[in-house]
Amino acid sequence: MGTRFLPATKAVPKELLPIVDTPALQLIVDECVGAGIEHIVMVTSHAKPAIEAYFAEAPEVVAKLRATGRDQVADHLEAIGRDVRISFAYQDVALGLGHAVGCAREAVGDEPFAVLLPDEIMGDSSLLAQMADVCVATGGSVVGLKQVARHEVSAYGVIDPVGELSSDGVIRIGTMVEKPAVAEAPSELIIIGRYVLTPDVFDCIDRVRPGAGGEIQLTDALRMQAEAGPFHGVLSDIRRYDTGNPFGWLTAVVELALEDERIGTQFREWLRARV
Ligand code: G1P
Repeated sequence: MGTRFLPATKAVPKELLPIVDTPALQLIVDECVGAGIEHIVMVTSHAKPAIEAYFAEAPEVVAKLRATGRDQVADHLEAIGRDVRISFAYQDVALGLGHAVGCAREAVGDEPFAVLLPDEIMGDSSLLAQMADVCVATGGSVVGLKQVARHEVSAYGVIDPVGELSSDGVIRIGTMVEKPAVAEAPSELIIIGRYVLTPDVFDCIDRVRPGAGGEIQLTDALRMQAEAGPFHGVLSDIRRYDTGNPFGWLTAVVELALEDERIGTQFREWLRARV
């Protein structure tokens, strides 16, 4: 519901808040496309029609842009949602992340798939692409991992590693727990919002009972997978922004504005003078 962004999210879904001029959700789509994903299923709710509107064609705006010679902007608008197939699945009651993933079951079908939590924006597609490769190589699910300070673990899913980290950051996972107390956390390795999962996870989700926060937790379904077969994590220091809160969102906006071809130089000068 985007409560950390009220009042903005009273009318605009948080996934559409702009990072410079691009909705956060578009950056997620770009990450998928960059990792070779060809079909994206948005799990959304009927209370957020703006998300579907964003991916719909906009012939009137495009015609107006073309009539006034702004073909580049028109081309850009027309490309949205065209480079990849996009479908929608609905979760109209907030029963948890595991439940949300379960809502996509029919649309996903019987093949490995990625889950991207749109609150987190990655610098590029490299982590997701590597995770997909690890899934193919191991035949099991894969999660993105980050090392954090011990006192931070309780906000996340935390994994219990088995064995050594490989030179490319891959580690086998024995089990995991959602939002443990600091004293009970099995490591300081947290699950970031990127997953590549084998489809047997859907049966696990069906078996999960409400866990942390009374929700159907994805981590609880993944624990069943990890305890039954191969399950790996990829530890990464990829650039990552948590845009689920105003501070994290602002850091993403500033960083991407500094890199922006059109306004980067001007913005850098302004920022330097300002601070
Ligand atoms: C979710 C997952 C958690 C994961 C986190 C990453 O938690 O349940 O395991 O570590 O995303 O951001 P949430 O942020 O929805 O509380």
